[in-house]
Amino acid sequence: MVSITDLVAEGKAKRLYATENPEEGVIYYRDETFAFHGLKRGRIIGKGEINNLICEYIFTLLSQKGIPNHFIRRIDNRCSLVKRVEIIPVVVKIRNIVAGSLAKRTGYPEGTRLHNTVLEYCLKDAELEDPLLNLTHITAMALATPDEIKLMEEMSLRVNEILIGCLSEIQIELIDFKLEFGRFHGQLLLADEVSPDTCRFWDAKTHEPLDIDRFRRDLGNVEEAYREVLHRLTGNVLRNAEDDAGEV
Ligand code: TMP
Repeated sequence: MVSITDLVAEGKAKRLYATENPEEGVIYYRDETFAFHGLKRGRIIGKGEINNLICEYIFTLLSQKGIPNHFIRRIDNRCSLVKRVEIIPVVVKIRNIVAGSLAKRTGYPEGTRLHNTVLEYCLKDAELEDPLLNLTHITAMALATPDEIKLMEEMSLRVNEILIGCLSEIQIELIDFKLEFGRFHGQLLLADEVSPDTCRFWDAKTHEPLDIDRFRRDLGNVEEAYREVLHRLTGNVLRNAEDDAGEV
């Protein structure tokens, strides 16, 4: 039994609650979604439940493969118990194929396969729209230590390998994703979430996005795409919330 106490933080797609154990928190996955740094807002019915299950699957897989992370266990449909880390204010983005801000910034066509994996650091600051950083910024501003940066880099590249392996078996191409890390008793843990809200997943055959880009670009069938990712990963079929509406 987990006793929730206070709301600690409310983000775009999640809430973090404190529990009676100061070392543990509860993440509540919301249906709300934001794009273009808050300029476009919406609600994807059922997204919270789906992302909670996808994160449970991915964090469990990553633990099994030796990536320490904050996930402890799923509590219910929308909530998971996690270790309360001190988040490092540096976001790591990993890119295998050109898309999103890299395409915009460089003019390289979306869908171009990169000759090597690209690793980018950004300042975690929503108001500043997470600006790009280089390694000298990170150490100069004491955002993370050189040892932490080395570990973040190693862990991010390993997560990329693990996810590519797992997703290729279910005909999903991993275009790019972002990761956040936190400190917990001197250990660096992968934190936040890994879901279609934070990754670009394309269907390997059709190259259709199966992620938040469907919302960003008004492509429709957003919740269906999230459900498809969950289904391919786990075999778990979550029914459409509208299907449930008529039932007692
Ligand atoms: P970008 O191409 O917009 O820089 O995004 C790269 C990856 O980071 C992509 O998989 C989506 C993810 N991302 C987030 O999770 N949250 C954000 O706020 C942004 C801008 C990107």
